[in-house]
Amino acid sequence: MEQTCKRYMYRWRLSYSHAPLSDICSFLSLVIFLLAAHLIAFHHASSFFAVDIMIKPDGVQRGLVGEIIKRFEQKGFKLVAMKLTAPGKEHMEKHYADLSSKGFFAGLITYMTSGPVVAMVWEGKGAVLEGRKMLGATMPSESAMGTIRGDFCIEVGRNICHGSDSVESAQKEIALWFPEGLTSWASCANPWVYE
Ligand code: RTP
Ligand code: MG
Repeated sequence: MEQTCKRYMYRWRLSYSHAPLSDICSFLSLVIFLLAAHLIAFHHASSFFAVDIMIKPDGVQRGLVGEIIKRFEQKGFKLVAMKLTAPGKEHMEKHYADLSSKGFFAGLITYMTSGPVVAMVWEGKGAVLEGRKMLGATMPSESAMGTIRGDFCIEVGRNICHGSDSVESAQKEIALWFPEGLTSWASCANPWVYE
């Protein structure tokens, strides 16, 4: 085994001693790039993030605010910002700016400005991904039972709650909804939620 390794190392050194410096540099850059990509992916999947969750006007009108907050609390996420607000058309258009070319955009804005909403920021490990799972699929008919949309609504245009779909959009949405910043606090439940 040792012999084989030595032979392999010798061959590798021989071949690389003849390789031009630029080839070696490209190879090293590729290795560094792959390592960095891996680290970033791991960081995004497992790190603590804040997610923007909003209870839409139908959720507020139907008295589901407490039920939705309860689910995020029970999961183990930490509430770091919350407000009941009706910020108006321009704000909602900014919030859903990426959908402005869609045919349902005008209807979506009318729906979202039809009453107050509850905007919240929840923090925790993998909060963005987990938050989306807790909400369920966009189309309530495709949402699994046990998810918020699966349990409480029927139509896509009345689907109860919003959740950021990526870390980047969470950051943008938090800045839009909470320009005053978040409340930082230490939860005594942390050691009982995380190992
Ligand atoms: P959200 O942003 O509200 O969390 O919803 P989402 O990511 O699951 O879905 P998205 O594609 O971002 O759509 C935003 C909201 O637009 C309404 N919608 N209507 N009529 C339609 O086909 C349609 N498609 C989407 C829904 O209220 C959806 O949540
Ligand atoms: Mg969305």
